[in-house]
Amino acid sequence: MNRKLDEFFEKVITVKLPEDRSYVDIIDQTLLPGTIKRIHLDTREEIWEAIKKLRVRGAPAIGVCAAYGMAVLAGKYTAESFDEFYDKFKSDKDYLATSRPTAVNLFWALDRMDAVCKKNAQKAVGEIKEILFDEAQAIRDEDVQISRSIGEIGFTLLQERREAGQELGIMTHCNAGTLATAKYGTATAPMYIALEHGWKGSDMHVYCDETRPLLQGARLTSFELYNAGITTSVQCDNMASLLMKSGRVKIIFVGCDRVAANGDAANKIGTSGLAIIAKHYGVPFYVCAPSSTIDPKTPTGDQIPIEMRDPEEIKTMWYREPMAPDGVDASFNPAFDVTDHTLITGIITEKGLVSGPDYSQGFRELGLI
Ligand code: MRU
Repeated sequence: MNRKLDEFFEKVITVKLPEDRSYVDIIDQTLLPGTIKRIHLDTREEIWEAIKKLRVRGAPAIGVCAAYGMAVLAGKYTAESFDEFYDKFKSDKDYLATSRPTAVNLFWALDRMDAVCKKNAQKAVGEIKEILFDEAQAIRDEDVQISRSIGEIGFTLLQERREAGQELGIMTHCNAGTLATAKYGTATAPMYIALEHGWKGSDMHVYCDETRPLLQGARLTSFELYNAGITTSVQCDNMASLLMKSGRVKIIFVGCDRVAANGDAANKIGTSGLAIIAKHYGVPFYVCAPSSTIDPKTPTGDQIPIEMRDPEEIKTMWYREPMAPDGVDASFNPAFDVTDHTLITGIITEKGLVSGPDYSQGFRELGLI
């Protein structure tokens, strides 16, 4: 327990339901760090748009939002029979599944809601609605426990590297923090758990890659770590190599959107480059992966679908004037890349730390695939 930290988490809860459960309440992450504003998602179109536009983002948070979204939508169906109810449910589920392709948590959460719906087909519609709310709440609550467990394992890695009287240099990419999950984040969980274990914010120094083009590292990760009192700085993505060469970075934690059965891990674009640099300089590179992100149906990273996004995110989105001439092509805008499992030192799951290179074996031993 750390009261200040808990107050901060409370202030920036990523996704929640109001008491009457009539909408999904999210913090609009596109407005951070300047504006903390909550918005209400009432319809399936609003939920879809919020996921697509990254108002809510980060693999576990997308899953929680989709689960809450399905419960809210289903709560409003008028249906006499299960078949009528399920037709509407299936149509909304299929629609939300088209919002973003890479984070497997979206499909995992939707499938889990679907399974619970079908399993209770013989019950009254009113009862099924309650069961769906309970399932969505369970997905959210489990996420808190999962990131806590990931944090505890990551914390032991921090302890091993801590030198008395010196701040410990940690690097991260994108945002796999509280804003991407229900509470501790995944890649940030080791740092938050360190605070809970009595470390001071100044015992660590977290180097956040700004994370072009949507700047999740600068706008979100540095925002949350700074507000949690952890020493934090932001550097452009292309500065990571020099920082690692300087010896200041002792360990890297990143999140992931989908981990293939062989350990190849999709995460925000730029992650694989970081892993290559880390290997060159001998900096340990850990992927923090809740079990919901490990996809047994995807054998290797080659089968992970990579989301392509609007070229305007590269050329105009953050600038007063376009940063490339109008006619110049910027259509290659992948949101994610895949880090080859041979570049990963270890994958931290809530069930334990899996070390490479034979990740499939490790996942099997922990019952993850
Ligand atoms: O496009 P985003 O912002 O949803 O990308 C998020 C990431 O790449 C995160 O690192 C990942 O989802 C893990 S969040 C715990």
